[in-house]
Amino acid sequence: MPKYRNSLQKDEKKISRRKFLALAGWGAVAGVGGVLGAAMLGFLYPNALKIPPSVFSIGRPKDVLASEGKVFIPDQKVFLEVARGKVRCMTAICTHLGCTVNSVETGFKCPCHGSTYDLDGRNTGGPAPLPLVYYPIHMGVTGELLVDKSRVIQIPGEAWYSPTA
Ligand code: FES
Repeated sequence: MPKYRNSLQKDEKKISRRKFLALAGWGAVAGVGGVLGAAMLGFLYPNALKIPPSVFSIGRPKDVLASEGKVFIPDQKVFLEVARGKVRCMTAICTHLGCTVNSVETGFKCPCHGSTYDLDGRNTGGPAPLPLVYYPIHMGVTGELLVDKSRVIQIPGEAWYSPTA
């Protein structure tokens, strides 16, 4: 019968102090190595943000002009409008706090705080301080129509692009 309840039995293996310290040392080395390895892996990944390119293609002119009307392009958050062989591209980002506006019968309406815009994107009600802007469209070297979101057109009438002109 052991003297204390938690004391070791005679046949149980004892670990020497030297062995215990060696194991603890290797454990510490492995821990520090893991932390340093994780830090080194962080350098392998670029810190760049994934920002979509400012110029994007909307397709070949005959495909774009094939159907008249307004189309929302969700990836770019823009409305593409085709009428009488011309096309223009307007932002769908509300000028109040940046929500995506919806196309409605009278123009555009923001679901967040109720700003309204007319069919040309001019702000007509709600807290939006400015009209929706347009982006210039041009023909790329591959023959596709390209929208350049790095520049803006403030006047709706000047945003129409005619690929055949
Ligand atoms: S974000 Fe559009 S009205 Fe506030």
